[in-house]
Amino acid sequence: MFEKLQKEVVTLLKSEGGKDSKLLAICKLLKSSVPYYDWVGFYFKNGDKRELKLGPYAGAPTDHTIIPFGKGICGQVAESNKNFVVPDVQAQDNYIACSITVKSEIVVPLFKDGENIGQIDIDSNTPDPFTSEDERFLEFVNREVAKIL
Ligand code: SME
Repeated sequence: MFEKLQKEVVTLLKSEGGKDSKLLAICKLLKSSVPYYDWVGFYFKNGDKRELKLGPYAGAPTDHTIIPFGKGICGQVAESNKNFVVPDVQAQDNYIACSITVKSEIVVPLFKDGENIGQIDIDSNTPDPFTSEDERFLEFVNREVAKIL
């Protein structure tokens, strides 16, 4: 599944259109293709502020359009520069709930010229669905996305 999706992501990024419409198309592609991806979105560093701002996403609207560094899974990844896989969100103290249906989450940082400038965030309504294959795939997506930013 991920091999085919990688090709589709590359094709999509080469297509006509602005950055945000391509990022939105990637969110929609991932959400509709991977059965356990229920919310897919990008957060980016908000200028010089130590906070993340919500970018394009697919799934239910969220109140969390701004997340301070250090807060929640996303805010922690902004500081750690490392993937964060959460098999069970209820077991996390530093977690920002977006929907009661969400059981698990994965956040993978996005680097441009070696700098952590944002992340891809995926929520799942399935408990513990993410493997190292998701991590490698999402790292690939972020590397490709970084090329157009
Ligand atoms: N759960 C995230 C907040 C963002 S929503 O999932 C869209 C977190 O704890 O950082």
